Amino acid sequence: KVYTDYFFDEPAYNTHDGGFVPLEEPTTPQQPLKIPELLQPDKETESDMYYTVIAQTGEVQLMPGKKTKTWGYNTDLLGKTILFKKGKMIHITLKNELPELTTFHWHGLNVPGPITDGGCHAPVYPGKSTQIEFKCDQPAATLWLHAHPCPSTAQHVWKGLATAVVVKDDVESKLPFPRNYGVDDIPVILQDRRFHEDNQWDYTADYDPDGVQGPTAMINGTINPYFDVTTQRLRLRFLDGANRREWRLHFSDNLKFTQIASDGGILPEPVDFTHLMLTCAERAEVIVDFGQYKPGDEVTLFCDDVPIMRFRIHEFAHDNTTLPDHLVDIPDPDVTPGAPVHKVVMSGMDEEVMMNGKKFDMQRIDDKQKLGNVEYWDISNTNDMSNGMVHPYHMHGTQFRVVSRNGHAPYPNENGLKDTVGVNPGETVRLKVWFNHLGVFMNHCHIIEHEDGGMMAQFEVYDPDHPKKYQLMDMDTL
Ligand code: C2O
Ligand code: CU
Ligand code: CU
Repeated sequence: KVYTDYFFDEPAYNTHDGGFVPLEEPTTPQQPLKIPELLQPDKETESDMYYTVIAQTGEVQLMPGKKTKTWGYNTDLLGKTILFKKGKMIHITLKNELPELTTFHWHGLNVPGPITDGGCHAPVYPGKSTQIEFKCDQPAATLWLHAHPCPSTAQHVWKGLATAVVVKDDVESKLPFPRNYGVDDIPVILQDRRFHEDNQWDYTADYDPDGVQGPTAMINGTINPYFDVTTQRLRLRFLDGANRREWRLHFSDNLKFTQIASDGGILPEPVDFTHLMLTCAERAEVIVDFGQYKPGDEVTLFCDDVPIMRFRIHEFAHDNTTLPDHLVDIPDPDVTPGAPVHKVVMSGMDEEVMMNGKKFDMQRIDDKQKLGNVEYWDISNTNDMSNGMVHPYHMHGTQFRVVSRNGHAPYPNENGLKDTVGVNPGETVRLKVWFNHLGVFMNHCHIIEHEDGGMMAQFEVYDPDHPKKYQLMDMDTL
């Protein structure tokens, strides 16, 4: 079966919102897609990996003319790709070389909160550095690192603080997937920007409480990119790294592609598509098979009807690898008998956005879940069908299962582990959630301006036998 639609409720696509900024095809020359370098560990042993991650300012030649002032991790814009191997202890020095405080949030990583997780309670002040340590204890996946200083997360991400994090394990390494980084396995970070005078970005000028957008697609920090295809099969690790934009992806010729992984790792079964929509912060690893093309051909990737990237086909070796029907087993623990069902209501648009009728408060714990329990969380979007938005709901500190959408089966590519799920207007999505670590974590809409605007809450994962006190920041101590 090949799925040919975007699943989500069409009237809720952000194209129907008055503030929607459609993409426009750039008039500037095509550029080779930037492939982020792999961040080299400071040291690696059998059991440990050591990294230094630096948030820094930079400037990049994105367009002809003036360079654009940017921020990035260990580079001018976005960042180097950070690789973790499952089972190893990871030691990271986090260094802030920016003129203001930031945080380093590991989106999708199962680590203790709130400090290691890197949300708003873990500031690193300008000129300072801190250390975190954790065991990488989750399956192979495409995760990401982004800044999370409340309420300036959106601005920091807009300036460039986002990068891919790849977890490897020996389940993934045995599957017949392309995995030659930069050649047939590449991160594809989808963002959009508006260029102002002298090719600069101006977050304040572009501000929209429903999410900042620009008309120009930027992929891995490249404007109008092309990629040279030198293998028949190509693995794309899509990440919606935009502040607000949904990406409705399809290729020329309605070329079929196969999703092999979602946010938290490999899917139980590969899922074939011609069209795929990603909401903010979601990831999808897909394999594209260019077997029907010959050298000199070009395949175009579109978002809606706008070309956003070209694949230039070169000579490649014939590859008749097929994927097994079953890829991996996904954990599906039983819900703890008698456990509460959590309710999360995302309401409003613009400045009115709230979660459970409240705006985010850094000092307030809104919910709790016992470590070891498996519990349902029912996530609702009260926007009305005709002119509401899809709110991408995200939880820190876990990879959950999507149980149902308004009582119906989730979409066919939601049968794996996820940390972000698009919730349609008028819909309730039931999640099954469990945690491996204690801490205070955040849950929020990942339209980043909604998050900064207060559509965010926090919960504690606790152990009744070992109560803990957390030092929670507030706006004033920041
Ligand atoms: Cu992607 Cu609270 O974060
Ligand atoms: Cu997160
Ligand atoms: Cu939202």
